[in-house]
Amino acid sequence: MRTKVVIVGAGPAGLLLAHLLHQEGIACTVLEQRSQDYVAGRVRAGVLEQVTVDLLARLGLDQRLRAEGLVHTGANISCDDEVFRVDFADLTGGASVVVYGQSEVMADLNAAAVSRGLDVRYQAEHVALHDLDTNHPYVTFTENGEAARIDCDFVAGCDGYHGISRASIPPNVLQTFEKVYPFGWLGILAEVPPCNHELIYASHERGFALASMRSQTRSRYYVQCSLDDRIEDWSDDRFWDELCLRLGANSGAEVVRGPSFEKSIAPLRSFVAEPMRWGRLFLAGDAAHIVPPTGAKGLNLAATDVIMLSEALSDVYSGAGKAGIDHYSQRALARVWKAERFSWWFTSLTHRFPDTSSIDRKLQAAELAYIRSSRAAQSMLAENYVGLPLTL
Ligand code: APR
Ligand code: PHB
Repeated sequence: MRTKVVIVGAGPAGLLLAHLLHQEGIACTVLEQRSQDYVAGRVRAGVLEQVTVDLLARLGLDQRLRAEGLVHTGANISCDDEVFRVDFADLTGGASVVVYGQSEVMADLNAAAVSRGLDVRYQAEHVALHDLDTNHPYVTFTENGEAARIDCDFVAGCDGYHGISRASIPPNVLQTFEKVYPFGWLGILAEVPPCNHELIYASHERGFALASMRSQTRSRYYVQCSLDDRIEDWSDDRFWDELCLRLGANSGAEVVRGPSFEKSIAPLRSFVAEPMRWGRLFLAGDAAHIVPPTGAKGLNLAATDVIMLSEALSDVYSGAGKAGIDHYSQRALARVWKAERFSWWFTSLTHRFPDTSSIDRKLQAAELAYIRSSRAAQSMLAENYVGLPLTL
């Protein structure tokens, strides 16, 4: 069989790209190694930048988002017992973010993929990319136990950090940059009202904590934990006690406790692979870059990558030329690196690093105090948090 674009991976990057190409009338097939339930059920961050909200609107996929998403015009930063609010709307000339879980985004993308007849193949095994540096690339895989082959013009590697696409780029071409943080995030979901109507990022002597939410009745909370910790070490009671301590007396007192129905530990990593294009292969989303979750940039970066990639591919098929695909890697990376910087900075500002001297904690506290007192510093935080513009 033949198509124009093969997309590897049906996470947010792959499905958003499939919808964008479908809207442009560009035939594509998505190959996903896992089951639909597995992909849709993964619990991830839940803060959408305006650019991501606009993308979902452009795709006609924002009905539930508009009804159920929570618009946040600011967020709180807490340092030990002191809390201040960063007013995004005031600092950025009206910008805001929308709190709407990635699993909800995935549910909307999947439902529309079915109703619009997108070609998404789940449980596609042994996906392998061939002849990417020629004008006739093709992809082989196994479907229902049978070998299959798709010839195409382009391949979009949207297969996440552990995918095969990035690994298909020759090592002498690919450069990678990585930082692994010496801690993880322990996150829970609980059917309890959030402790605050906006998010609270808490920097505490005992470690970072984050109060987030999925709805008015469902809370998402995190505490920084050791990489050696196991889920079994963290009973619900221990989690709630630790969270309340780190959020400080006032916010901690507002926390409503309840049984957790999801609990997991995630490591934190900053990672970028350059270039994001090799021959007719284009990387997008986590296949090319990972950010630590502080600032919730992962899903938003996947969205902006595929906006840029779909524009570039549309130019090729509309006859507007190849400048877009030639420029894709450079354009995407320019925005990626700024989000990497912000996520690293926000992580460094708010987390407790083991084996650092007491001066580091004092410097962190001084920087937080500076941000609290400086409109300029808050503007930097706000404009990055709501999302930097897509430049040419
Ligand atoms: N063949 C086919 N599919 C694959 C392969 C493979 N060899 N390897 C990985 N995949 C699939 C994974 O099963 C997964 O469903 O690719 C998908 C990649 O999805 P994500 O890891 O979610 O990556 P991405 O779509 O770039 O999402 C970016 O969403 O999931 C979050 O943390 C992520 O916030 C980030 C954003
Ligand atoms: C979340 O709600 O899961 C979330 C919110 C903000 C972050 C990270 C995660 O920075």
